[in-house]
Amino acid sequence: MSLFRTKTVAALISESKGGTHGGMKRELGSINLINLGIGAVVGAGIFVLAGTSAANYAGPAIVLSFILCGISCLFAGLCYAEFATMIPVAGSAYTYTYATMGEFLAWIIGWDLILEYLFSGAAVAVSWSGAMQGFLNEFGVTLPAAFGSAPFAIDRAQMVTTDLFLFSFEHHPLVATGTLVNLPAVFISLALTVVLVIGIKESANFNNTMVFIKVGVLLVLVAYGAWWMIGHQDVVAANWTPFIPENSGRFGEFGWSGVFKGSAVIFFAYVGFDNVSCAAQEARNPQRDMPIGLLGTLGVCSLLFIAVSLVLTGMVNYTDLNVDAPFVFALQQVNAPPVLRFSIEIATLAGLTSVAMVCLLGQPRIFYSMAKDGLLPSMFSQLHARFRTPHKATILTGVVCAIVAGVMPLDLLGELISIGTLMAFALVCAGVWVLRVKRPDLPRPFRAPLLPVVSLLGVGTCVLQMYMLPGDTWLRLAIWMGLGFVIYFGYSRRHSKVVHRH
Ligand code: ALA
Repeated sequence: MSLFRTKTVAALISESKGGTHGGMKRELGSINLINLGIGAVVGAGIFVLAGTSAANYAGPAIVLSFILCGISCLFAGLCYAEFATMIPVAGSAYTYTYATMGEFLAWIIGWDLILEYLFSGAAVAVSWSGAMQGFLNEFGVTLPAAFGSAPFAIDRAQMVTTDLFLFSFEHHPLVATGTLVNLPAVFISLALTVVLVIGIKESANFNNTMVFIKVGVLLVLVAYGAWWMIGHQDVVAANWTPFIPENSGRFGEFGWSGVFKGSAVIFFAYVGFDNVSCAAQEARNPQRDMPIGLLGTLGVCSLLFIAVSLVLTGMVNYTDLNVDAPFVFALQQVNAPPVLRFSIEIATLAGLTSVAMVCLLGQPRIFYSMAKDGLLPSMFSQLHARFRTPHKATILTGVVCAIVAGVMPLDLLGELISIGTLMAFALVCAGVWVLRVKRPDLPRPFRAPLLPVVSLLGVGTCVLQMYMLPGDTWLRLAIWMGLGFVIYFGYSRRHSKVVHRH
């Protein structure tokens, strides 16, 4: 039964206020929180995936995919907002699950969130490496090949079968590429770790600058694109006709099924808005600012995604968008001033830097909460005497991220992240409902509307999107979870500080 022991909400809140090392600093206001959210969200998803998803799945209707995905994230966002105001402590979905569905599920979610945050950090560091090398190439600088990319890649041409318990999975093997390490990816992971150890305020300021650059440039792109489109309405009309290209005969290749498939793929673009909830313990007025931070981030990012994808598919035909840097490509196609292309390259770098930073900010706060509960060694819950940041957990996260980013290929990381995040969202949506039933008396400064409908829709859309991910991803999730069970039953369960309550 101890698997289902829960932490009380009162205990969670009182813990967040003190502790032997004093609490974290409550420094962040609502604008900082929205910036943190935008920092975590606007990255590789929009700068890279928007183009390939339009080309491969949805055509100009990729804008509908963005809208659908935004709506499904809204269900999760409302549930996160209820939890984050009720339990404004570090740890996000892990902590909420501990309060509602018990220790074992909380462990599962905590372990699963590592997939989201740590691996997102690594994935984005790998994208950053690619963008940085592209940028340096503009000036004729090329890195030695041995240090430019991961020593492993997925061999899509080969298929192997792995048996796991009762299941048999077909998947592609990892092969050596002959390179040594992805050095720029290691560099950015470690550099951001240093900023994060120094302080939440410093990290927020750095993030705000990056957000200002990436959002500013995207707005200029939208303005330029709109101006261009007004002058070339015949081209735009041709590019947008048909708006939903006819299905190719295969599920997910254009037509409405393509719109849904596109929505599952570009889910990655929205990953990260939940990161706002990790900073609940550092928010000045979480009751008011958490819903503003979470839902504001979702609103701003959705509008930006919609505008940017309309402009992209209006300027160039979707069939041409299967490229690494779709905006740079589109601007070249319409003979835009080179300074705009240059700005997009800088904005991409700024975007990727901030996404990686916010991921590396969220993860240690989850380790911190898990260590405080005894599920991980206590050194990860220590705060730095002067900086007041969980420095040991931050350094561990940074070093692991640097290693993973240095050796793993991007596509492997990307798939793992989506499945991990969707699972977390589903559990949060379910958890809100469970706590409404178990503890209707608790004060809820923000209430998710229309419960249980919103919970059910949230769980349903997440499970549907998980279902659409490839079999490989499920296999890796199973292996990752298996490792988590070994640690839980080998260490965490016996060291848990939560006593069993009936
Ligand atoms: N949403 C983040 C990105 O698109 C993870 O890079």
